[in-house]
Amino acid sequence: MTGPSSAAGSVATGSVLIRSVRPYGEGDPVDVLVTDGEIAEIGTSIDAPDDIEVVDGAGAIVLPGFVDMHTHLREPGREDTETIRSGSAAAALGGYTAVFAMANTAPVADNSTVTDNVWRSGREVGLVDVYPVGAVTVGLEGKQLAEMGMMASGAAGVRMFSDDGKCVSDPLLMRRALEYAKGLGVLIAQHAEEPRLTVGAVAHEGPTAARLGLAGWPRAAEESIVVRDALLARDAGARVHICHASTEGTVALLRWAKEQGIAVTAEVTPHHLLLDDSRLLGSGSEASGPGLGAYDAINKVNPPLREERDKVALRQALADGIVDCVATDHAPHAAQEKCCEFAQAKPGMLGLQTALPIIVETMVAPGLLDWRGVARVMSERPAQIVGLTDQGRPIAVGEPANLTLVDPETSWVVHGRELASLSDNTPYESMSMPATVVATLLRGVVTARDGEVTR
Ligand code: DOR
Ligand code: ZN
Repeated sequence: MTGPSSAAGSVATGSVLIRSVRPYGEGDPVDVLVTDGEIAEIGTSIDAPDDIEVVDGAGAIVLPGFVDMHTHLREPGREDTETIRSGSAAAALGGYTAVFAMANTAPVADNSTVTDNVWRSGREVGLVDVYPVGAVTVGLEGKQLAEMGMMASGAAGVRMFSDDGKCVSDPLLMRRALEYAKGLGVLIAQHAEEPRLTVGAVAHEGPTAARLGLAGWPRAAEESIVVRDALLARDAGARVHICHASTEGTVALLRWAKEQGIAVTAEVTPHHLLLDDSRLLGSGSEASGPGLGAYDAINKVNPPLREERDKVALRQALADGIVDCVATDHAPHAAQEKCCEFAQAKPGMLGLQTALPIIVETMVAPGLLDWRGVARVMSERPAQIVGLTDQGRPIAVGEPANLTLVDPETSWVVHGRELASLSDNTPYESMSMPATVVATLLRGVVTARDGEVTR
């Protein structure tokens, strides 16, 4: 693939002394000296020049900066709901150092003019490395392949393609896309939803949707595409990535495909790990926030919130590596698009600033992952899957200083209006979250600290 291998060098590289942090939450606190954007020294009581910026970690955990393979930044086109700047701020505050911005913008990111602009804007903001995702098909219409090669060879060096929001449902087109992607050395990420099975569907097909009179979205709509695309990837000798895996059956199919040696990877969202469709019933149901009413479209998302057994299977699959990584599917929407009739409301919820706490709650607290495991699923695996060589790296001398400092002891209460996003469609309003991001560093530059972005 031509084009840059990373956005390294786009933002000034920094020198910082981080005092008293525990890499991966292990051992006694150490100091980490960062010079020219790289880790220069790790030790106790490091001497540093008087004028160097000091971050007091106060015993915080330090992890490699998080990488989100699935973010909607809404620019170009819906800058009333999110911009590259506001979304980058949310990412930095959430501990992210790289995000992949999905292609369902207006205009669609199906050509290199759009993808290069998104990339340049991300560099200008400089809070996080913004990698544009290119559309697989022109206009996300599922009819004709987009100019993937042009986007891959442009300034942005697009390395991931997806029609996310929509499924590439035509099997022949998907086959061709996988063949091209293999040749280009890029990744296809599939929003697995057989559209013939989800006509009018707004909620998970099951007892809750039946009780509420909402049109159901069957598990098979996802699973039939997961198995189909695994078979297409097998025959093409290509890789395929499954966006937002949401069902127990998808986990079984991923396990089967991996056992066959098929190059399939998958992500799970924090909301599919924490929430289930009982939220649609309103207050008094499990995990509901205060004052939540039935039919509240804040809980509407694609794929829909599923059932308890799906959550259990997804948590175990993430722990086992059957599901490779966490991705937020951060999906900002305007108030008028969420505060309306359930069937009319837009699907999606904010995710960047609440991802880590939810992983702590659903995976670390029950003992399914330790902090090394968090580094794996939130940083190392996503960086490997998309081929970023400067992210998800070990915390070691000579490595890029893309780092996240986490205080696991302090909790905080979510208020949508206080999040950095221009939208406030969080399903976690007034919920208490464990763990706080103390600081984020991108190539040694502090991008977020104590809840504020630095630029
Ligand atoms: O809930 C969702 N929202 N799922 C998607 O696949 C797309 C996203 C969006 O763009 O709002
Ligand atoms: Zn999607």
